[in-house]
Amino acid sequence: VALAVADEQRQQFKAIELFLKCSTPNAWISDALANQGLLLVDHANCEKKAASTALSLTYRYTEYYELLLRLSKLAREELRHFEQVVELIHKRGIPYTFVSACGYAGELRKLIRQPEPQRLVDTLVVCAFIEARSCERFAALATSLDTELEIFYVSLLKSEARHFQTYINLARKFSDSDISERIAVIGGREAELIQAPASEFRFHSGPVTNSELDPDRAV
Ligand SMILES: [Fe+2]
Ligand SMILES: [Fe+2]
Repeated sequence: VALAVADEQRQQFKAIELFLKCSTPNAWISDALANQGLLLVDHANCEKKAASTALSLTYRYTEYYELLLRLSKLAREELRHFEQVVELIHKRGIPYTFVSACGYAGELRKLIRQPEPQRLVDTLVVCAFIEARSCERFAALATSLDTELEIFYVSLLKSEARHFQTYINLARKFSDSDISERIAVIGGREAELIQAPASEFRFHSGPVTNSELDPDRAV
């Protein structure tokens, strides 16, 4: 049974790698390892945001029974993740200070078309990308972290893979046409954002360019 489960997870992860148009830049991984306190604080914010996004969809689309049940469950899981990150932050004595959101989700949201059902479909595709990227980043980081964080991030990447599947399945269900064009458009932008130099490190930022250390890279 354990082998079958591992095999299913490998397949889920393969699907995510194929879905994303680029992998996380190595420079971002170095940034994350050098900023682990900030990584955890911003990560806590991402879990809280993921829960509230799912919950907000249950307010807007009350007529869709399957969506209500799936997203309510998803929101509960995100809140559980939030609690786990908060416990870790507390245990490690990291101050949970205010950290501004990075532009990633906001930029992706700009691609959402306004009339329904396109608005719902695009929102679900954007959420699928955020879940897929989170899963990919947990996997990219896990083995370079201490054992406690590694075990935690491996457990998280499994749920984020499921969340990705939930969102993409719902997007297909609510679209009256093939969604591959929307996946291409939103995925193209997502890859741009993930690779673009960022001024501040965040869980969903691009790599931080340090113009002080490398004047040739200054813009
Ligand atoms: Fe989560
Ligand atoms: Fe998630």
